This record gives sequence, C-alpha cells and structure tokens, in this order.
Amino acid sequence: MSSSNQTPLFPLRKGVHTRQAHVDLPAGTFEDEHGRQGFFGRVSHLYHVNPPTNWTRIEGPCIPHSYNLNQLFPGMAMEGDEATQEQREAAIRASMFGSHEDAFGPVCFLHNHDVALHFVAPTTMDFFYRNGDGDDVYYIHFGGGRLETDFGVLDYREGDYLVIPRGTTYRFLPDDSVQRYLLIESFSEVTIPDRNQLGPNAIFDPAMIDTPEPVPYERGEGREWAVHIKRENQITKVYYPFNPLDVVGWKGDLTVWRINIMDIRPVISHRYHLPPSAHSTFLARNFVICSFVPRPFEEEEGAMRVPFYHRNIDYDEVLFYSKGEFFSRDGIGAGMLTWHPIGIHHGPHPSAIPKSRLKDRTNEVAVMVDTYNYLKPTPAAGLVENLNYWASWK
Ligand SMILES: [Fe+2]
Repeated sequence: MSSSNQTPLFPLRKGVHTRQAHVDLPAGTFEDEHGRQGFFGRVSHLYHVNPPTNWTRIEGPCIPHSYNLNQLFPGMAMEGDEATQEQREAAIRASMFGSHEDAFGPVCFLHNHDVALHFVAPTTMDFFYRNGDGDDVYYIHFGGGRLETDFGVLDYREGDYLVIPRGTTYRFLPDDSVQRYLLIESFSEVTIPDRNQLGPNAIFDPAMIDTPEPVPYERGEGREWAVHIKRENQITKVYYPFNPLDVVGWKGDLTVWRINIMDIRPVISHRYHLPPSAHSTFLARNFVICSFVPRPFEEEEGAMRVPFYHRNIDYDEVLFYSKGEFFSRDGIGAGMLTWHPIGIHHGPHPSAIPKSRLKDRTNEVAVMVDTYNYLKPTPAAGLVENLNYWASWK
C-alpha cells in the first residue's frame, strides 16, 4: 500500500471481471465504472447482470433530466405544455439576469456557484455588455455574425467557441440567420487543460486560436452609447457621448479568443474507449467543458464502442447535443440537453450497443459541462423539460 493516499499499488480483482477495462466484458455482464474525480481518480469496475439503468421508478431529486432548449423562447410552447403564454414569459424573465433585454437576454436554465448555463438568441444589440461576474464562453449552436469587443472585432460562425474574459466590453452583431448560442458563464478564469504526454499541439493546436483585430470604429458622435454592466446579476447602465469601444491598439496576453469545435482533433484509441475527460477543451474552477466531435469507433473486436455505465460520483454531468446523430441516446436531437445529477446511473440506451456495431464512426457534435458542485434548475428549465426522460432506457 502506498502510505500517502491508501491506494493499493495494483487494483484488486474479485469474481467475474475483465482485467482490461472496457474490453472483452464477461458474457452477459454490463460494466459500471465507479470512479472518482470525473475519470481522473481512483476507480473500480463493477460487472452487473442487469444494466443499472433498468429501473422501474425513480422518486426524488436524483432523477435524470432532459431539456429541449429549442423551445425555450417566448411563443415556442412544448407539446402538451399547459403553461399559458403569460406563465411562460414570467418563467423565462425570472431566469434571465438583471433587466430583461430583448436584443440579448440570456435565459439561464442551470446554475451553481461556479458556473451558470444559459441559452441565448441575440439580435443586433444597440448597447454594449460587460460581465463583471465571470468569463463568458459561448458555443455557437446556430448562426454567426460579428463580435465587437474592447480588443477589436472577431467574426464568428456555427461551431465556434468564443471565450470572453470577465470585464470585457462587447456586443453581438449577428447576421440574418437563426441565432442560438449556448452560454457557459464561468465565475472563475477559463483556461485550457495541460496536454501532458500528448504534447502541446494535441487536441487542438493553440495556433488555431484567433483573437480580435482592432479596426477603424464607428465614432458615433452626437448620439448616446450605453454599456450594460452585470454585477451580481444586476445590470448597471453607463452612458457615453462617444463609442466606448474606441481602443486603437493593445498588447498583452489577456484577450477574447475563438476556436471552432471542428478544429478539435480528438484523441482516440482503436483498442479502448477513452473517457470523456480525454475530450476536455476548457477548465475552470470546479468544472470542465469537453467537446465531442466526429470520430471513428474503436475497431478492435471486444473493445466497447459506447460509453460505459457510471454514476458520476463527483460531478453533475450536462451534455448539449448540437449536431449529427447521437449514437448512445435515443430520442435526443439537436438543441437538446441532458443533466445527470451526481449519484444516478447513466450509460448507453439499449439500442446503442448493437447499433454501434453496425457503424464505423460517429458524426455527433456535443458539448459537455461536468460540474463538481450540484446544479440547480431555473423556472425556464421546467418549461422545456421532457418529464419521461428517466424512462428512456427501457
Ligand atoms: Fe457520463
């Protein structure tokens, strides 16, 4: 035994098991990964006779959730939804920060002290915005346009991540297409993970990151310009007689940056299903953002191709499905999001295991947020929840 953390030098092995995790599972068993620290920590694999998701009922707060964010905005009622339009609008307004702003108005659906998740459908903003509470990471699910910032302008398109450090002044000038962005608001600084033995160019080459360019700006004298500053979710409006984005140059290593999800070159093994942590894109205090992009399946006979069952011992797990066919989950389409609270099992839907054997790759594009602390849903989340999701493994 090592003295410092009581971890045995070699894993113990009892009863029916496979020595190599995720490969050559004993016939008739279902593997359950019981691991700490989101796939980084101590771990055991349990071999069940029944899938641990074959429950008949769930009573209590650990129930898994699924939300259809496509229906989050006013006027987009869910099928079977009994809320009146007034109730819907009240729930959405209650889930927005500060004062309600038609041109921006991120709708929060899940949050804790480290991170808040919002869905945003901006139109051209005639004011600037500055988040004094945290860094803003946008994932552009649909749409595109131009982002104006203190550091200059940056054009963006579908699949882009835009990372905007706390305190930056900015606004969106979207194009005419449908705009839907996932906003991951981080109450600590967002960084990228160490590549360690994969080398500095792995997953994405940092040279693929783009930053804003100062350009000649609209002086806009003779009109009033507003900056809406968010602090503790309250909006303060500051007015200027000139365009406050009047920076003509800058130097340094703190700025806005952009990387497209399709510039991520995922790490895979042809012999072994890597855990989600291998797809980490951004890190912040007490949460991680991972990107799932099209990739070949494991090809070796006996190697699992779908995620193993697990019960998220240390993390609430949120997955936003953006594009492609989500091979491990039935009934989940683009613009939907699942939330599996700490403690409840999840894993592939029953049809996913045989289906994965018929294909040699997955084309899914998805963004995962794993949070160390418990998330809470907002009234808006309740509007767009699929209440039968817990039964979808049947
Ligand atoms: Fe998971």
